[in-house]
Amino acid sequence: MEFADVVRRRRMVRDYDPGRPVPAAVRERLLEHAIRAPSAGYSQGWAFLVLESAEERELFWSATTDDRTPDGWLTRMRRAPLLIVPLSNKAAYLDRYAEPDKGWTDRDESRWPVPYWDVDAGMASLLMLLTAVDEGLGACFFGVPGDRVTAFRRAFGVPDEFRPVGCISVGYPGADDRRSPSLRRGRRDVDEVVHRGRW
Ligand SMILES: Cc1cc2nc3c(=O)[nH]c(=O)nc-3n(C[C@H](O)[C@H](O)[C@H](O)COP(=O)(O)O)c2cc1C
Repeated sequence: MEFADVVRRRRMVRDYDPGRPVPAAVRERLLEHAIRAPSAGYSQGWAFLVLESAEERELFWSATTDDRTPDGWLTRMRRAPLLIVPLSNKAAYLDRYAEPDKGWTDRDESRWPVPYWDVDAGMASLLMLLTAVDEGLGACFFGVPGDRVTAFRRAFGVPDEFRPVGCISVGYPGADDRRSPSLRRGRRDVDEVVHRGRW
């Protein structure tokens, strides 16, 4: 697929065909592309938790959502045959930037203009979203609620220094996909968001 088409066609898919697993080669391509993402200081302080079996996925959903009857969103999302949780690791960046070529030996967090650890995990996430489109699959990046992070870590033995920046569901699109109501906002035009030369 042309790169421009991949970018244009990318959108979040929130229903999946539960009968069609993600081919292993595609799963690996998603991960291989993820690690091609840029990272500050080449820190690569990211990790990716891959959940594929029914048990693994069920554990993810039970750890990150409440016990109420699943709403439509959750019912459709739970059909995804593959979940990839991108995690960021702030400590890895503080360590990397304390090395001699960077020299931030005080590990002072106020030095950081924005949390590069999360930026980089986000960049890796976008590469996975685009790769899914290129492979003819659908994917959705969605948040892991802040008050569920501890339960999530406990469920999968994730070390405390790693934080999920979200989760990416992947699979062949289902028949009941719903667009986000947020899309009614419309895409903001280039001229609305771009400031050329001066604000
Ligand atoms: C950081 C981030 C968090 C998001 N969280 C959710 C989420 O929790 N649930 C969801 O259904 N979509 C989530 N989305 C998807 C957005 O709703 C979606 O990207 C936006 O509405 C634009 O639609 P599109 O990606 O299909 O073009 C998230 C996207 C991003 C980038």
